[in-house]
Amino acid sequence: MDSEFLWWRDGVIYQIYPRSFYDTTGSGIGDLNGITEKIGYLADLGVDALWLSPINPSPDVDFGYDVADYRAIDPKFGTMADFERLVETARNAQIAIVMDLVLNHTSDQHPWFLSSRASKNSPYRDYYLWQDARPGGKPPNNWRSVFGGHGWEWDEQAQQYYYHMFYKEQPDVNWRNPKVREEMLDVFRFWLDKGVKGFRLDVFNVYFKDAQFRNNPTRLFGRRPFDRQIHTHDFDQPELMGVLHDIRTILDGYDAAYAIGETFLSTPEKAAGYTGKDKLHACFNFKISEARRDPRVFMRRIKEWEHALGRDNWPNYVLNNHDTVRSATRYGQREDDARMKVLAVMLLTLRGTPFLYYGEEIGMRDIQVRRRDILDPIGKRYWPIYIGRDGCRAPMQWDASPQAGFTDGDPWLPLHPNYIIRNVARQTKHEGSLLHFYKKMLAFRRTHPALVKGDILPLVAGNRSVMAYQRRFIDQKLLVLLNFSAASKNAALPINARFLPAFSTHSRSPDMLFTGRIQLEGNEALILYEK
Ligand code: GLC
Repeated sequence: MDSEFLWWRDGVIYQIYPRSFYDTTGSGIGDLNGITEKIGYLADLGVDALWLSPINPSPDVDFGYDVADYRAIDPKFGTMADFERLVETARNAQIAIVMDLVLNHTSDQHPWFLSSRASKNSPYRDYYLWQDARPGGKPPNNWRSVFGGHGWEWDEQAQQYYYHMFYKEQPDVNWRNPKVREEMLDVFRFWLDKGVKGFRLDVFNVYFKDAQFRNNPTRLFGRRPFDRQIHTHDFDQPELMGVLHDIRTILDGYDAAYAIGETFLSTPEKAAGYTGKDKLHACFNFKISEARRDPRVFMRRIKEWEHALGRDNWPNYVLNNHDTVRSATRYGQREDDARMKVLAVMLLTLRGTPFLYYGEEIGMRDIQVRRRDILDPIGKRYWPIYIGRDGCRAPMQWDASPQAGFTDGDPWLPLHPNYIIRNVARQTKHEGSLLHFYKKMLAFRRTHPALVKGDILPLVAGNRSVMAYQRRFIDQKLLVLLNFSAASKNAALPINARFLPAFSTHSRSPDMLFTGRIQLEGNEALILYEK
């Protein structure tokens, strides 16, 4: 592996949900100038790239994931000039910008769709998936929408059905149409030319649907009707590989450009299959964030991921995003951050690119939204079985002032009431805070090539609460020990070398010699280096 720092491989990527980061206008919604103002904070935290959830014009049925124009900035977030200033300010702080590209579907307000539905003769008609009704007016086949109900929507104006895997306001485009393909590929060039360094590709593995629109086979078990199908014909079609190749060719024409795909219904094998030379640089595998807080389960999934990717591909790890209950809510305890520190050390010391989600560094918890305040349409539809994704999208907690310093207006989602005690300003002042811990850990990671580039060797720690692994790069060897229990635990490792503490959640004497046996404190994360 080369010694040069490659931002997406060696760095840390921080996801921002722009609506909720920082509002400079009093609109109650975060904006691009707000992100620009906080670049100092992000540089100080020690991240290398920002992935911005969509900032294109959108009617916000799915809060930006329904795009009405791929080449513009939504006025509620600012102007193109604001965006250019953000890219520039970030670049000066050595932070890359990663755009979220939602290319499986557009908004139903996108001019392509408006024209497409208006006439069979529209040049845009074939930009979408239109099909005639089956006899009796039935939908063309059995495909379902992930967000509930049928995937096919009858359109009175068009006198045909169109397909939407997500909300009906998000019609799927027809990637088999060469014009659509060209338009979409051009979107990459457009943003790369503006200085964007990378892309997160929304649900890329469903771009193609079966050309003959065959029914999916059904199965007996599954939570939702969508899960009671085997997605043979609406997911993972072979034609996708050609598009990944085209995307990669474009990216390779730009310096250090990158793409990570959101593998929808991920498995490690599937995500790995789309990763590599001539494909995407990386794909998400969500099996780790879906795991319960048990070191054995985590380790099993890490090994599966490593195994699926092989030595030539680079893993990535993510515990949070805008679709999932926050890790501090899933795994944390009330306002105590001891467990979150152990998880932070895990995330930041595994072999692979770590992804952070805004507020993770201060241990933000999900908000509880009352039924009448739910904004996410799937939450409205499925409450109380599923309450939607508003919980993890609440405004960033900057300080203890009214509205947490996020806005002078009415925030679009309620603040978590804990913002009075859990906020950036307060954690900046307290040495023992989670925020300080993240900063220290990120700095430690950056200065230790074994953590940034090294290989990983999982170890058996002789205790089921303790996770252990080594990271090695040339002559640097680090040993990571994570105690997932609140009680102190003994660990015994089969190593015959001498190690000294380098980093710990607890105070450890720097000359405590470790030769294989150790008593870890409750919730201790300890990194040792070989003497
Ligand atoms: C992805 C996004 C999610 C969105 C969906 C449809 O899963 O992460 O937020 O609702 O795609 O675009």
